Amino acid sequence: MKNDWKFKSAPIDPSEITPRGSYLSRRDFLKSLGIVSASAAILAACAPNLPDTADAGPQEIPEGSLTDELGDPVNSYDEITNYNNYYEFTTDKQGVARLAADFESRPWSIEVSGLVKNPKTYTIEDLLERFPQEERIYRLRCVEAWSMVIPWEGFEIAALLNEVEPTADAKYVRFEALLDSDRMPGQKASFYPWPYQEGLRLDEAMHPLAIFATGLYGEPLPNQNGAPFRLVVPWKYGFKSIKAITRIELVDYQPDTLWSTIAPNEYGFYANVNPQVDHPRWSQKTERRIGEIGRRETLMFNGYEQDVAYLYEGMDLQENY
Ligand code: MTE
Repeated sequence: MKNDWKFKSAPIDPSEITPRGSYLSRRDFLKSLGIVSASAAILAACAPNLPDTADAGPQEIPEGSLTDELGDPVNSYDEITNYNNYYEFTTDKQGVARLAADFESRPWSIEVSGLVKNPKTYTIEDLLERFPQEERIYRLRCVEAWSMVIPWEGFEIAALLNEVEPTADAKYVRFEALLDSDRMPGQKASFYPWPYQEGLRLDEAMHPLAIFATGLYGEPLPNQNGAPFRLVVPWKYGFKSIKAITRIELVDYQPDTLWSTIAPNEYGFYANVNPQVDHPRWSQKTERRIGEIGRRETLMFNGYEQDVAYLYEGMDLQENY
């Protein structure tokens, strides 16, 4: 596992992964106070920022103290799993959990192909065994101007790509989600060009902040959040973080994406969080953090600017939205 790289924005070291028990007891603790869907004001009161533990080695994180590196408390499990965008099931955010409840995410395999030296099909079990899972607490900013803080578990995309070895011609990575309208009733809506697909430039995909998520809150990924295997790219709008991935292809062209196919003037390929570039129908300057009253300012690259700005040096971000 690569753990010598230090994030500027995400100081939680793999050796400090929150034990599963701590997550559960935190949830039980909040439940016992009757504030599982608490407002951030209450959560903040019991969630002070973590002390700087960079060199302190493994340690147990006290109940209720989980925050991102900016000091913002993680959203509750209930919030993260009951307010979802997952059009393969429904366009109703509060209806996804119920409609996805019986989705079978096993058996599951992921084919990695295209411009690679070692094409391979992995089962989800292979991936869980082969790549050590680490915790990443990331902000998720939806293009619709709401956001959450989510404690994911997963591994860097780079780890998988290094194993299949992209050839010198590979420039982009294309991701494809499951196509199965029997299991995903929303795919009967023929308006959308299924399957959901997304893409990243190869250097974006290789960035250490970009991960595949296999779990959250110390538990396997819930169906509504993309079980068993999804992308999480925290500096981009949430729609880039494709759920239920079944195919990964290395290509030499910029791949089509579901949203840029439907509405190219609204959803670009890059989709970097950028408060200076408004959506044609609404402002992106502020956002509503789920669980909070009022709005907060949206941060450039969703607060990961120090880590990722170099990827876009010299690019016109108004043009490449
Ligand atoms: N992936 C698939 N396959 N289908 C989707 O509809 N919605 C995207 C993204 N990934 C979506 C998807 C959008 S718009 C957002 S904001 C995030 O998932 C939401 O992730 P969450 O429900 O885990 O918060």
